[in-house]
Order: sequence, then structure tokens, then C-alpha cells
Amino acid sequence: MELFLDTANLEEIRQAVRLGVISGVTTNPSLAAKEGIGDLEAYKSAVLEIARLVHGPISVEVTALDAEGMVAQARDIAAWHPQVVVKLPSTVAGFQAMAVVCKEGIRVNQTLCFSLNQALLGARLGVAFISPFVGRLDDEGHQGMALVADIVHLVRRYAYPTKVLAASIRHPLHVVEAMRVGADIATVPFKVLMQMTHHPLTDVGIQRFTQDWEKAGLARSRP
Ligand code: G3P
Repeated sequence: MELFLDTANLEEIRQAVRLGVISGVTTNPSLAAKEGIGDLEAYKSAVLEIARLVHGPISVEVTALDAEGMVAQARDIAAWHPQVVVKLPSTVAGFQAMAVVCKEGIRVNQTLCFSLNQALLGARLGVAFISPFVGRLDDEGHQGMALVADIVHLVRRYAYPTKVLAASIRHPLHVVEAMRVGADIATVPFKVLMQMTHHPLTDVGIQRFTQDWEKAGLARSRP
């Protein structure tokens, strides 16, 4: 399973890239706003910087709410850089925009996907990625990962050339479950990526190896 980083923070991206496991980045207007990005020009500069750091898809979301506005923004955003993928929401306007821009060859990440029916519509329109939001479904008392599993089944059963991107990942267990249900990608916040590196038994093991090594060294140096 591939791992994308879910952030617009350049320092987090720089640090994550050093781990060598990140093959893409996803952003959204909330993540951009968190970094002080408030217009498309600033969003573009950040994305061009991200493209220098990561050699994979970079998802950038439209902010327009009507189909015409989304299509215009999608065309503009897609021209920023060859790595850019345009995030369009799972709404009537979003599907109308997907119907236009997917035909033009623009790669789309169908975002805010909360149902199998929404996923079917995106798959039929030819989106490159479908993003079910796991954590937000869990927040509402639904099984977010069950939706990921259903979409994986849909895409494989009908052979849609669409990747299933588990999004709204909140903790390392979400990543484990995404692997188990066969998601193609999980997009993870930096904090979760760091949590994935950690196991207390690894720390204990290192401590023990170091102590034993030092003890043996001391014993050998005694007369
Ligand atoms: O990839 C979508 C993600 O950014 C949403 O995450 O935690 O705001 O639900 P969250």
C-alpha cells in the first residue's frame, strides 16, 4: 500500500521525505488555511514547492461551489504542475465538474466521499482516486473502514481504473485496517506517520543491546 502525506506544511513534508516512504501529498482548503494560505496564488506557490520535494501526485482542492466555477478552477489548478491532481467534492456540482474535466484528461481525486453510491458515480466518471473519509465517518458512529472495503470491492469487481485512497486517517490502527481491506493508498497526517515508526519494544530492545554492548566492553577492558 502506498503512503501519501496529508498536509500542506512544508517542514512536515521535508521531514517525511527523509523517511523515503512517501509517494504523494494530499491537501485541502483547511490544511492550506492552517499554513496561512488563503488564495489560489499562495496555494500554487506552496504546491510548486511541494512538487520540488515529492515526486508523486499532489492533490489540490477546488474552492468553488458551482460546477462552472469548479471546472474553471480545475483547469487552472491542473496546469500548475504535471504532478497536480484536482480534488473535486462528491456533490451534484462536483460530479458535473468531474464529467467535464475527466474527459479532458485532468486527473481527479474524488473527495469527501461518504457512501458507496458516491464512489460508484466517481468511478463511472473516470476519477483517478476516490477518497473515502474514514475518521469523519467514525466520528458519526459509522464504520469508516467498512466503506473503504466496499469501495475496494466495487473497483476490483468492475475493474475501474481508480485507486482507493483511504483519507481522514486519525491513528495508526486506521493504517493497519486500510492495508487489511486492500486500499491502494492511505494518506496520513505527519503525526500518524511518526506514530507508525514507533514501538515501545523497539526502544526497550535498543536500550538492552546498548547496555549489553557497553557491559561487554567494560569487562574486556578490565585487567
Ligand atoms: O484527507 C482528508 C483529510 O484531510 C481529512 O481529515 O482529520 O480533517 O477528517 P480530517
